[in-house]
Amino acid sequence: MRPPLMPPRCGSWTSSRSGVVRFQPLEKLINLHDFYARQFKIDNLQLLLLQRNGELYLIEGRCPHRGHPLDVATLDAGVIQCALHHYQFAIDDGRLLHATEERCRGLRIYDLVYEGNEVGVMLDE
Ligand code: FES
Repeated sequence: MRPPLMPPRCGSWTSSRSGVVRFQPLEKLINLHDFYARQFKIDNLQLLLLQRNGELYLIEGRCPHRGHPLDVATLDAGVIQCALHHYQFAIDDGRLLHATEERCRGLRIYDLVYEGNEVGVMLDE
């Protein structure tokens, strides 16, 4: 039996067309600032929460090329560049912009969800 449909809250459950999802809080809003960067490991997901120029982004924590950690990547003018082979991805939609070797898939970008004084993400269960 599915849990009742209700607005997401910290640790609460809700239903979607694709199944059951839950709100996963990541950070309190008061802790965010420009050049904020923090990795999160949630189940088998590695996520990276970043703030630049007042914009907050949630992306996968490892480069789609060969898995280098992106917490040491550079982010400038909407482009994130991996430190290992300098692949570049658009931070708004994750598309691959520049490859120095074979092409790879785009970067996974996650929608942020604001709940009370926290920001988080909806994750499938
Ligand atoms: S691992 Fe990131 S560009 Fe190769």
